[in-house]
Amino acid sequence: VRSLHVEDLPGQKSFGAVVIGLTEEMLADAQTRQDLNELWIDKGVIVFRGMAGIGTHIRLSEVFGEPEEHPLLRGVDQPREHKLIIDLVFDSSIGDLYEVDGELRGSWLPWHSDLIYLDKINHGGILRPVVVPERGGETGFIDQIAAYDALPPELKREIEGLSVVYKHAIDSSLAKFGKRPERCLRLHPYQVRTAQHPAVQHRVIHPMVYTQKETGRKVLYVSPWFAEGIEGKENAEGDALLQQVIERLIQPQRAYFHRWQEGDMVLWDNWRVLHCAPGVPVGCHRHMRRTTITGDYALGRKENPEAVFPDELRAGV
Ligand SMILES: [Fe+2]
Repeated sequence: VRSLHVEDLPGQKSFGAVVIGLTEEMLADAQTRQDLNELWIDKGVIVFRGMAGIGTHIRLSEVFGEPEEHPLLRGVDQPREHKLIIDLVFDSSIGDLYEVDGELRGSWLPWHSDLIYLDKINHGGILRPVVVPERGGETGFIDQIAAYDALPPELKREIEGLSVVYKHAIDSSLAKFGKRPERCLRLHPYQVRTAQHPAVQHRVIHPMVYTQKETGRKVLYVSPWFAEGIEGKENAEGDALLQQVIERLIQPQRAYFHRWQEGDMVLWDNWRVLHCAPGVPVGCHRHMRRTTITGDYALGRKENPEAVFPDELRAGV
């Protein structure tokens, strides 16, 4: 990309990029927008430094697709700074609180893909900090293309053509797969309310492996959180296979953990990169905002085709 200043992610050569010196005026240039899109598809994660404000957050998101209202906030009366932005908050009075490895962690989130519990998964999101906590609060990313490439050939053959069943959940200490906190001490009330949403009362199915259409690369498309099992193999054997795949996928050496600085905005390809939040210690305050960039990779489906999903919902539900 000639028109942009691009570097590797700190300490991470295999995926992701840092873009420095991008200004809002540059976003008006068609070639720059195209270069940014190509970089996003190629690298999976882009860290933008020196950005600011809600307007820039939305205009930068628009470069990569249409920002949409979070599907679980559609028809829900919840105060927000902007319809297209969700707030992720932890402080002494609010936010998810878990015990993880014997420590209390606010806003801890396991490895996951956003909206994988719906049949249409958003293509990406851009996260930015409003309040950077004094300690912790990083966001982790794992490249699922590199994870697929590293699978042994016999495992690649075994999972070819399989699909995973997902269901929305709010308490990650009850997750069936991946790392689980020991216990949940508090859930954010908005989080609790999402569990009532009509769109998440049903299970959905996504392929375990799919091919990125722009590049032909295969993606190990498994979200440990929200996974319930392998379609048609929801038994001990199928669960052991899924567990084995997930252990290979979330190996710590695959992860890049972004340490937030003021002015950062981080974009990821939600169809190719897992993310997680190792959380903050109690006493810290963290406030992040995220956009949701629409799209449909068109390989997800409802387990029950009669189920009602957000597109069919009317305001006021
Ligand atoms: Fe997320």
